[in-house]
Amino acid sequence: MHAAGKLIYQSGFGNEFASEALPGALPQGRNSPQHCPYDLYAEQISGTAFTAPRASNRRSWLYRLRPTAGQVTNQRLEHPGFPAQLESAPAPEPLRWSPLGVPDAPTDFIDGLQLYVGNGDPALHAGFGIYLYAANRSMVDRTFCNADGEMLIVPQAGRLQLVTELGILEVEPQEIVVIPRGVRLSVQLLDESARGYVCENFGTPFRLPDLGVIGSNGLAAARDFLYPQAWFEDRDVPTQLVSKYLGHLWAGVLDHSPFDVVAWHGNYAPYKYDLRRFNTLGSVSFDHPDPSIFLVLQSISETPGVDNLDFVVFPPRVLVMQDTFRPPWFHRNVASEFMGLIHGAYDAKADGFLPGGASLHPSMTGHGPDAATVERALQADTHKADYLQNTMAFMFESRLPMRPSVAALQSPERQRDYADCWSSIAKRFKPQA
Ligand SMILES: [Fe+2]
Repeated sequence: MHAAGKLIYQSGFGNEFASEALPGALPQGRNSPQHCPYDLYAEQISGTAFTAPRASNRRSWLYRLRPTAGQVTNQRLEHPGFPAQLESAPAPEPLRWSPLGVPDAPTDFIDGLQLYVGNGDPALHAGFGIYLYAANRSMVDRTFCNADGEMLIVPQAGRLQLVTELGILEVEPQEIVVIPRGVRLSVQLLDESARGYVCENFGTPFRLPDLGVIGSNGLAAARDFLYPQAWFEDRDVPTQLVSKYLGHLWAGVLDHSPFDVVAWHGNYAPYKYDLRRFNTLGSVSFDHPDPSIFLVLQSISETPGVDNLDFVVFPPRVLVMQDTFRPPWFHRNVASEFMGLIHGAYDAKADGFLPGGASLHPSMTGHGPDAATVERALQADTHKADYLQNTMAFMFESRLPMRPSVAALQSPERQRDYADCWSSIAKRFKPQA
């Protein structure tokens, strides 16, 4: 539908951006003049409460061919993943899945969403849904509007072109993109197929974390977050609009493209980020800091330091800690952890955790390196540095337990022997040492 090309982005996290696809399309001096340039309609989209503090307030003004009023989605759309079918009594066991294959039937991004875990309630603005997607075709004259939450998309294979009301973003594996709640989206495939992960965040919009004693640099830099320029099409063709609202999918038909925003300004907009830009920190003496040092984005809750969602990345890095068990250590955790692997291998698992795969470690369920990794770590010469180069793993972490979906529990990709990866860890206790 849309040609791939060189896109020019605006940079900075949460900035007050301004962009126009036609010269002079942005009104000056007021948001909603009686007559907008080019006889456009002014429409505001607010992603936070009107009275949210200035630092967290998110809204944009859109100048478009037609307002969205009257664009109704009231026909139920059948989809096996919606509404969510979550297991009501899941065992507190670690779960792991092999990657999804390319679908046989024509499958676009919406068709290809498969819910793996979730909790909370979009009606209460708390919680999340975590999906994997596998698709083999672009969304054709079809648009998605998620009123339940923003979507953090992690492509694992296949490049995507995200056509949104505020412009176009292109992402490849090792980049991520965040689509704010309610912003309309069409996902185009730039390769034959695509797969990856989607975290749907019902809570407060993702933000960059404070850096505390780290100081003013490090982790993800605001300037590396890229926002689109205004882009529009004046195309009167029937277009299906799919809305997700309170867990259900609803559909309606527009008689024109919804991507008719000629200019916009504000700080509520989709953005992308290249995970390879993450400035990774770690110990240069001994032991590991907690993995909060890998935090890219957070959705904060009403309790300081206790997040609805954290997005954490484990990029290439150098391990130099002396006399230290260097793999990610054994632990149990009040949070729940859903991991994915974009590229290469993860340093806590010798095999079984594959690019495109996923794992879940429920709250207070012990986990850590598998038996082969433990053997290797115990033999390692920690006077030498370990260069972890071929890797890009990530984690969605939440204060809320993660309920697996019924479909994910029954999935053929589920590795039912996952816990066996720890079974040969031997007792080494020597009482006379
Ligand atoms: Fe963990």
